[in-house]
Amino acid sequence: MRIAVFASGTGSILEALIAAKLPIDLVLVDRSCGAVDIAKNANIPVAEVIRSDFSSSFDRESYSAELLESLALHQIDLVVMAGFGTIVGTVFHQVYKDRVLNTHPALLPAFKGWHAVEDALAAGVKVTGCTVHVATLGVDEGLILAQEAVPVLSNDDSQTLHERIKEVERRIYPETIWRVIQQLENGEPLS
Ligand code: GAR
Repeated sequence: MRIAVFASGTGSILEALIAAKLPIDLVLVDRSCGAVDIAKNANIPVAEVIRSDFSSSFDRESYSAELLESLALHQIDLVVMAGFGTIVGTVFHQVYKDRVLNTHPALLPAFKGWHAVEDALAAGVKVTGCTVHVATLGVDEGLILAQEAVPVLSNDDSQTLHERIKEVERRIYPETIWRVIQQLENGEPLS
């Protein structure tokens, strides 16, 4: 099973996946970010498929085709999103149907989207958390594979809350990916 991790941020989730000894064959980034150095330090090949257009006319399908070319070069079977800042298009999900995993910093289906931690704080919830799921064309939809609650503390801001959520993600995401690998290798449905 050849795995690519997609990242755009500090790469702390990537670091946890590496520490969990997951067999990572490629780290792909859409911008220059901390994940690049983490991958290089771990001697993992890096593909920088830089996204230059963040406007509403962004050609998502062409960009997704570029991503697919990189993955084909490395013969990737499973894509693991670890804070990737670009939504991939239809063509991508056609090729990697049920082979894209994501971790999201909220208890889906609550607080979908890019501001999940801020939105949870603004809603005044007492509990939020994280969700590992199969990524589909519908953003933050797809089969839920694991979830864990994280309490919101009265003095939390988005940074402190997100950091406590990430502590949980760094534990449950690698565990879930190992389980998915076993299920895929045994031809079992993901659960
Ligand atoms: C994680 O909290 C992950 O759930 C989130 O980005 C963070 C990456 O952290 N992903 C999303 O919000 C995707 N919707 P990192 O850069 O420290 O690895």
